[in-house]
Amino acid sequence: MKMEEYLNKSIKEVINQFPEVGNILNEYNIGCAPCSVGSCLLKDIVEIHNLPPEEEQELMAKIAKVIYPDREAKIPEIKRKREARPKEISYSPPIKKLVNEHVLIKRLVAMIPELIDNLDVASEEGRQVIIDSIDFIRSYADKYHHAKEEEILFKYFGEDLDIIKTMLEDHDNARAHVRTMLEALDKKDKEAISEHLNAYQELLTEHIKKEDEILYPWMDRDFSITQVGELFSKFNGKDEEFGDAPERYEEFINKLEQKFKLKEAVK
Ligand SMILES: [Fe+2]
Ligand SMILES: [Fe+2]
Repeated sequence: MKMEEYLNKSIKEVINQFPEVGNILNEYNIGCAPCSVGSCLLKDIVEIHNLPPEEEQELMAKIAKVIYPDREAKIPEIKRKREARPKEISYSPPIKKLVNEHVLIKRLVAMIPELIDNLDVASEEGRQVIIDSIDFIRSYADKYHHAKEEEILFKYFGEDLDIIKTMLEDHDNARAHVRTMLEALDKKDKEAISEHLNAYQELLTEHIKKEDEILYPWMDRDFSITQVGELFSKFNGKDEEFGDAPERYEEFINKLEQKFKLKEAVK
């Protein structure tokens, strides 16, 4: 089989056939091996991950060596729709908004170990902490933030794209964890709540990293100035719908951080 044909195969298929390729991708910080879908084509990863041309050549040469250990394989040049840009990320204003929302979500996610340590399903006060945290996840992280992605941002690229499918799948899995947590809370099942909080932490940490470092910069490279403006006003429209809710949720996170810090001071 020719190298061109491998370039048009999904990463997952290539890694199944040549597991070593997964390690090579990891060396370049391209986490396709652990990626849940992994169905992006080999030729697309270079563009999605914005590798500089020298690194692309080097990476492709290493992959070719694994696929054809006995001969010098000719590496076809991969045509890109967009030029490679410098590595450090500078987001457009609307995308920066989403990155800032991630910051608040990450602050809740960072408190999950404390939430689990202090889990109290017996007292009214303890239950309220869980209810409020789940409400933050449902209302802020999901209805407010994920809705901006699903109803506005992702529409510019289409839901058939593998990278978008992966993100949507993550959102669905996050929703499933929330549903199970609520059921567990009804049954006062501490263990199940902890288990799903942990899973949510793991899922969202990876998800946000993928968006901040890969998906958003890749999308930003594709947007025209007009689209950036349009996106900004559509996001503002969503913000208006939610009124002062985002500020209230920020206040909730501040208070929760204080609560856990206070506890630590008392110890
Ligand atoms: Fe997302
Ligand atoms: Fe996000």
